[in-house]
Amino acid sequence: MTDLTKPAARPDNPRFSSGPCAKHPGFSLTDLSDAPLGRSHRAAPGKAKLKAAIDRTRAVLGVPDDYRIGIVPASDTGAYEMAMWTMLGARAVTMLAWESFGAGWVTDVVKQLKLDADVRTADYGALPDLTIAPDRDICFTWNGTTSGVRVPNADWISDDRTGLTLCDATSAAFAMDLPWPKLDVTTFSWQKVLGGEGAHGVLILSPRAVERLESYTPAWPLPKIFRLTKGGKLIDGIFKGETINTPSMMAVEDYLVALDWAEGLGLSGLVARADESARHVWDFVETRDWIANLADDPATRSTTSVCLKFTDADLPDDFAKRVAKRLDAEGVALDIASYRDAPAGLRIWCGSTVEPSDVAALLPWIEWAYHAERAAA
Ligand SMILES: Cc1ncc(COP(=O)(O)O)c(C=O)c1O
Repeated sequence: MTDLTKPAARPDNPRFSSGPCAKHPGFSLTDLSDAPLGRSHRAAPGKAKLKAAIDRTRAVLGVPDDYRIGIVPASDTGAYEMAMWTMLGARAVTMLAWESFGAGWVTDVVKQLKLDADVRTADYGALPDLTIAPDRDICFTWNGTTSGVRVPNADWISDDRTGLTLCDATSAAFAMDLPWPKLDVTTFSWQKVLGGEGAHGVLILSPRAVERLESYTPAWPLPKIFRLTKGGKLIDGIFKGETINTPSMMAVEDYLVALDWAEGLGLSGLVARADESARHVWDFVETRDWIANLADDPATRSTTSVCLKFTDADLPDDFAKRVAKRLDAEGVALDIASYRDAPAGLRIWCGSTVEPSDVAALLPWIEWAYHAERAAA
């Protein structure tokens, strides 16, 4: 008989969503009272906040001084689309996709920009072939949030490349080390690893990306919110906090407060928290024969969006959903069913704002829910 007794300990915070992700420990709405609400974002206080967000992002992430950092509209999607629409088409491009967000970038490049791309895809759990000629542009996602598969490193990107690398790092930035010399365009949103709000994207450009912007004009029209140059020159203000259109100063304040917390830990501390949480899940999975990591190769396992599958052959299609629902009903885990386009399973966000002790406390509940659901079937 399997013990169906509920575990005694519960996670203090049941929020394991992969986005928006848990607020940082100790967060309170009252921390946002310094937001310059009802003022122009172009007035001195607002501009100073936006510039601080840029400068402090650079400091925490270790972004080189000669890279530009801009705050742009429409969250990570806005930042990444802006990069693709302004920079692609100058050279041959290889599109890499191994889960749904990467697949979305492929769709836009092939169907909207109509580029004759070299498209390389892999099933959920795997990576495509990463051998790519150095004269090609490359679009990829550092951490595939919906499959829990990340690139193990950037050794496959040539130091002597002439093409640009466009990296969607939204579920990696602040939780994984990003090798800046290998990345020409990097994007992320505040709602992921720092537990901030949606709305704005961050766009980080290497000097070579700026050179592309200033030397190449795409054949297609660009809406105002995508335009990064004027008269063939980079619009400098965007990278000093003069946003293209009106930002949410509440979201900016929230990001600054998250940065206060992040600065206390430093990048290595932020990375270590995600590593510790992911390790709890990996160790749990290792010692159970009914659940497995979706990522095939341990070297590619995400430490933020840890994706799991139930391995029994005789499970009903909605088994994972029912387990997730049971955990939600118990109030021990919210939003951990796998992404709608991904294989059935669980996805546990282990990004830096999540307490590793909460992940550890959740795991016996997953075991309980698995057995309870099997017994109920
Ligand atoms: C890898 C990846 N890219 C893009 C997005 C879209 O991000 P946003 O909704 O912040 O634009 C997400 C969101 O989950 C993601 O995980």
